[in-house]
Amino acid sequence: MSFGDSKAIISNQPGIHESLANIVNKHLNTEFQKPISLHTKQAFAEIDAKVKAFNGPIILDSCCGVGQSTRIIAKQNPCALVIGVDKSANRISRNVDDSWQVDNYQLVRADLNDFYRLVVAANWNVDKHFILYPNPWPKSKHVKRRWHGSAVFPFIIKVGKSLELRSNWSLYLEEFQSALALAGIESELTELEQAQPLTPFEAKYQGSGQQCWSLSAKL
Ligand SMILES: C[S@@+](CC[C@H](N)C(=O)[O-])C[C@H]1O[C@@H](n2cnc3c(N)ncnc32)[C@H](O)[C@@H]1O
Repeated sequence: MSFGDSKAIISNQPGIHESLANIVNKHLNTEFQKPISLHTKQAFAEIDAKVKAFNGPIILDSCCGVGQSTRIIAKQNPCALVIGVDKSANRISRNVDDSWQVDNYQLVRADLNDFYRLVVAANWNVDKHFILYPNPWPKSKHVKRRWHGSAVFPFIIKVGKSLELRSNWSLYLEEFQSALALAGIESELTELEQAQPLTPFEAKYQGSGQQCWSLSAKL
């Protein structure tokens, strides 16, 4: 796989989206009523039983793609159960050849727009929540497809004691940061140091010389 040709994000948005505050405030003050899909309900029921039977920290790795970060985080946190969630069956079932094995993780195929609501309803005690390189949706008209512009944002901020997002598009994280501020949550945006990449997208961005960014918050 070539890592040298990943293009930096190009957006028609010069800064934080002009409607972001309105969108976030609306979502913070209205109920998200879209029905939950059957496949996510079923996937959640299976993993919920494992979470209830597990006696240790839970870590959530949202948008985990092929689950490389899920496995690395599981290796770094041997006492935790690390749950990677992605909507793509193809990605989570792809065989990734790691030179080491861990068994304290699970990959779940589910739509996070539904999954987050089920996590909150089931009152999971999530220690850490990662959202690593979410789809950026850089076109201004797609702002509501970004996690902070989505109707599920009020649930995302109820998941976990701490949250870390990473992106190669700092504006995505600046917007997420201002959405968090609207909910009264402080966060810190930093340049990510070049280190062993956690995910394939991180490896791709590092390989093409792009700066990656990290946003962390205590919830
Ligand atoms: C840019 S990829 C990043 C994957 C991985 N974190 C990485 O850095 O290599 C974004 C991932 O988010 C997943 N995704 C997007 N929307 C989702 C949703 N609503 N529910 C679950 N996964 C979603 C996609 O399937 C994709 O695998």
